[in-house]
Amino acid sequence: MNILGIGSALPEQTVTNHQLEAFLDTSDEWIKSRTGIAQRRVMKESELTSLALSAAQKALRDAGLKGADLDMILVATTMGDYVFPSLSCLIQEGLGATCPAMDLHAACAGFIYALETADSFIKAGKAKHILVVGAEAITRLANWEDRATCVLFGDGAGAVVAGPGEGLKALRLTARTDRNALYMLAEPGNNPFTGKPEEAPEGVKMQGQDVFRFAVTQSIEDLGWVADQVGVAVQEMDWVLLHQANRRILDAVRLRLKLDPKKVPGNIHRTGNTSAASIPLLLDELYRAGLLEPGQLIAMSAFGAGLVSGACVLKWGKEPPEELTAAEDLFSPPVNIMPEV
Ligand code: UT7
Repeated sequence: MNILGIGSALPEQTVTNHQLEAFLDTSDEWIKSRTGIAQRRVMKESELTSLALSAAQKALRDAGLKGADLDMILVATTMGDYVFPSLSCLIQEGLGATCPAMDLHAACAGFIYALETADSFIKAGKAKHILVVGAEAITRLANWEDRATCVLFGDGAGAVVAGPGEGLKALRLTARTDRNALYMLAEPGNNPFTGKPEEAPEGVKMQGQDVFRFAVTQSIEDLGWVADQVGVAVQEMDWVLLHQANRRILDAVRLRLKLDPKKVPGNIHRTGNTSAASIPLLLDELYRAGLLEPGQLIAMSAFGAGLVSGACVLKWGKEPPEELTAAEDLFSPPVNIMPEV
């Protein structure tokens, strides 16, 4: 599989930490020092479909393809604007495509799970061009009265067009079920034949430190595994893109693997944790800034609710775009508080 085109989209509304101080017992200082997040983008209304469509259109344009050229649409998302039709169906409609479309849910690792799925269809000869989208409106699922979780999240969408080729060098997926570390109960509905649930649904719930430990150890293990498969040390990769969950997680992985900080970019200070959209958003930023060059090896690693994880190594094959976007700050200074892992 090769990546033929890439695009992304963020909601217009920016919400700073100071805005959160107005209604939560929190502070800009706490959020920045514990997570590296200064602001996030938050949808104004149910616009995930239009965000995801915009990212998809940019990716198609970048690939020089049209909706009609697609053989499949795969969307990694926790929940689209509708429970059904799926977000992928709504994107299909917007693109004027006629191919099969399905959503895939693997939380923050969803984009890498979807890349593996796309690669398998392409390798099997069942599809040539697959649109792979990571799109999330996690701020809609968060409990905005819970300062320990809601400050972390942001919304966004990133998309790639996958096609035949040898660019995907190695990929690993894992799942290890944990119902307590990070979860969100479904709404019970009003079925009169169902008893009351033991626990009322209250948005996203998390044992932050458990997830932190899982993220760091699993990411290091996964990156080592995919690097071994390719026969190139993680330190020798040109880029290591980590799921943007917490700047301290990025720093812990980087320090333990002794990675050059210039190879581990981050946009979490501007976007927060955008779940399945996080990796393609960051990849697109690097591409638009002209930082990705053909032949470069890009390792990616993501982890999240499930608990699940995914990592891969991609050999980048695209020339930089003709019109470059000035690189925003992709290497913010590390935060200072490093927890024991
Ligand atoms: O996509 C994957 C999903 N998520 C993650 O990867 C998240 C992984 N976990 C984390 O990033 C971190 O564990 C958090 C950022 C969630 C929390 O950081 P922490 O250093 O583990 O803090 P903590 O949970 O140990 O809380 C320390 C204190 C507590 O107060 P006390 O008990 O010491 O008095 C919390 O109540 O900080 C308090 N606290 C806050 N204070 C101000 C928790 N959230 C906030 C807040 N503002 N927003």
